[in-house]
Amino acid sequence: MIRSVVRGNGAALPRRIMKNADFEGMVETSDEWIVQRTGIRQRHVAADDETTASLGEAAARAALDSAGLTPADIDLIVLATSTPNNTFPATAVEIQNRLGMHHGFAFDMQAVCSGFVYAVATADLYIRGGLAKRVLVIGSETFSRILDWSDRSTCVLFGDGAGAVVLEAAEGAGSIADRGVLAASLRSDGVHKEKLFVDGGPSTTGTVGHLRMEGREVFKHAVGMITDVIEATFAQAGITAQDLDWFVPHQANKRIIDASAKKLGIAEQKVVVTVDLHGNTSAASVPLALSVAVADGRIKKGDLVLLEAMGGGFTWGAVLLRW
Ligand code: ACO
Repeated sequence: MIRSVVRGNGAALPRRIMKNADFEGMVETSDEWIVQRTGIRQRHVAADDETTASLGEAAARAALDSAGLTPADIDLIVLATSTPNNTFPATAVEIQNRLGMHHGFAFDMQAVCSGFVYAVATADLYIRGGLAKRVLVIGSETFSRILDWSDRSTCVLFGDGAGAVVLEAAEGAGSIADRGVLAASLRSDGVHKEKLFVDGGPSTTGTVGHLRMEGREVFKHAVGMITDVIEATFAQAGITAQDLDWFVPHQANKRIIDASAKKLGIAEQKVVVTVDLHGNTSAASVPLALSVAVADGRIKKGDLVLLEAMGGGFTWGAVLLRW
C-alpha cells in the first residue's frame, strides 16, 4: 500500500527573542509566574519584515534542502495557519509563488493549534488518494500580531515561528513496521468556541481582532481530550504507549504535556518539550519541536513518533507515524 513518508523537515524562527523578563515592564507579571505556570522561558517575535509567508517559505526551503529536493519536485503545499498574510489569497499560494513554484496547487488549513496535525492527516489522504506524490506540509504563525499586549493572561503565552515536513509517497507492506503515516484521529467541537477565539474577523467586525482565552477552562478540557484522541489512534494502529519512541505534543503548557504523558503512561524521557524555547506557536509548535528533536539526533529514521495537538474551536487530533 501507499504510505506518506517524511523525507525531510525544517524550521524557521524570527530573529528577535523575547525573554519572560522582557514582559516585566509591560504587564504585571514575572519570570517566576510564567515558568511555574507554563514552562515557557522565551519566545521569538516577528519583526515587521517577518510574516507567516516569509517564515513559512524559510521553513519550506529548509525542509526541501534536508530532503535533497527542489520546489520542482513538490505537487502540493498545505499550510496550517490561523495568522495568514491576507484574508485571501491563501498564504500557501503566496509561499508557492515565493518558492518559484508555478505548477501543482496549494491551500491553507485552519484548525488553530491543531492545524499541523490536521494538515499531515490531510496531506496523507491526498498522497494515498493519488492526487499528489510529494507534499510540503507547513505550520507557520505570527500570533504576536493577534495578541492583546496589555492582557497578561495571554500575551506571555504565545510566540512566532514555522516548521515544515516533506511527505513523499512510498510503497509499504501495510504493517505497523512501515515508515510513514500509520494512523490519525481528528476531532472538533464548536460548543467550546468562547473559551478560545479571536474577537474579530472579515465577516463580523471587519477587523483582525485579538486572541481571547479562558485559560483555566482550556486547561480543564485539554488533558482529557488529548488522551482520548491518542487512545483512539493507538487502537487504530494496534499499539500501546510502550511501543512509542517519541511523543511530540503541541507545546502550549508544560503542565498539560506532563499530565497527558502521565495519564497515557508515556515515559518522561520520550517526551519532546520545546515550550521553554518557543512558547505556544500554534500550528508551528509540533513541526518546530520535531525540528529540534531531529537536529539533536533524538528522532531517527525508523522511530515510532506520535504527534498531538489541541486548540481553538476546540479542535484536537493525533497522528502516528514512523519517521
Ligand atoms: N502573570 C502573573 N499573573 C497572572 C498572569 C501572568 N502572566 N496571567 C494570569 N495571572 C493571574 C490571574 O489573573 C489569576 O489571578 P487571580 O487569582 O488574582 O484572579 C492567577 O494568575 C491565576 O490565573 P489562572 O488563569 O487560574 O492561572 P492558571 O494556573 O490556570 O494558568 C494558564 C493560566 C497558563 C493560561 C493556564 O490556564 C493554561 O495554560 N491554560 C491552557 C492554555 C492552552 O493550553 N492553550 C492551548 C490552546 S492555544 C490555541 O489553540 C491558540
